[in-house]
Amino acid sequence: MKILAIETSCDDTSIAVLEGRGDKIKILSNIISSQVQLHAQYGGVYPFLARREHEKNLPAVLKKAAKQAKNPKIEAIAITKGPGLEPCLWTGINFAKTLAKELQAPLFPINHVEAHILANFIEKKLASLKLPAVCLIVSGGHTQLVLMEKFLNYKILGETRDDAAGECFDKAARILGLGYPGGPAIAKMAKNVRGRISNKLPRPMINQKNYDFSFSGLKTAILYEFKKQPPEIQKSPEYIKAMCAEIQRAIVEVLVFKTAKAVKDYGAKTVILGGGVASNDELRKQFKKSFNALMPSKKFCTDNAAMAAITAYFHLQKGEKTSKDVEAKADLTL
Ligand code: KG4
Ligand code: ZN
Repeated sequence: MKILAIETSCDDTSIAVLEGRGDKIKILSNIISSQVQLHAQYGGVYPFLARREHEKNLPAVLKKAAKQAKNPKIEAIAITKGPGLEPCLWTGINFAKTLAKELQAPLFPINHVEAHILANFIEKKLASLKLPAVCLIVSGGHTQLVLMEKFLNYKILGETRDDAAGECFDKAARILGLGYPGGPAIAKMAKNVRGRISNKLPRPMINQKNYDFSFSGLKTAILYEFKKQPPEIQKSPEYIKAMCAEIQRAIVEVLVFKTAKAVKDYGAKTVILGGGVASNDELRKQFKKSFNALMPSKKFCTDNAAMAAITAYFHLQKGEKTSKDVEAKADLTL
């Protein structure tokens, strides 16, 4: 079976083609057109600007993805339904609908959070998944701890009550003048740092007996810590680097601690990491050290259509039905 997938939930326009037969899965193409440079000027993603870019980019991305996959006959079109930025989701959906008519192929709606989880099986065999599993999805829009007792079956254990982990990286980077996206910028500055800032940042909700997160207080603490410094310290590379290291430490510590609690409470045999923040080296290192952890290679952590294609493949293999119509749902849950 050959599936074409379209992903436009945020600021990456991506189209992939997957070929699957039984447990043999091959990504024939996975083209991503990033809008990072455009949004970097504004320090974040503007949904209507992103929508315009998706509209502009989709035809060329499709051409490239189809060509690289050698123009195969497509049997289903996977399309991200949500969660995400509504104008961006609709652009992908409308494009998918037109293509579905042209190719006479049915549609299959995709949950973007589930796709971040299943991105793990693009390169790894399903046999590496021992259940029950605990999944941590950490991206610019989401921070969720999810229990998977059966394959493709999800129960949300906890989530962020305000900002997502990636959002916290992005906002912290903006405070420190490091540009967008903040996660990679902070991770780069935090490498090989020896010095520490004199005050430790808070580890929000780490001692609470639940699986929820909260990162907006951490952002405020970062702002206060930065504002109380004189201008010469604020501009000093040593201080910025020490701040980045402490910000990364605070976020990673909370993520590892809460995941460990879920693993212990539910007797999880595998921990699945997914989402853009899963490309953070320190988080990857700590997860490998602490758990039997699966994590996608970095190129499949951030948004891509290959993960939407594999999600459709697993569901269709299970016998689930395709759809005639798909509607965007910005706040779609698992
Ligand atoms: O999954 P993703 O591409 O888009 C959403 O679905 O939100 O995640 C993007 C987020 C951004 O907040 C970005 O700063 C963060 O992932 N990110 C990172 C790293 N690379 C991307 N955060 C920390 N460390 C990184 N290396
Ligand atoms: Zn995402």
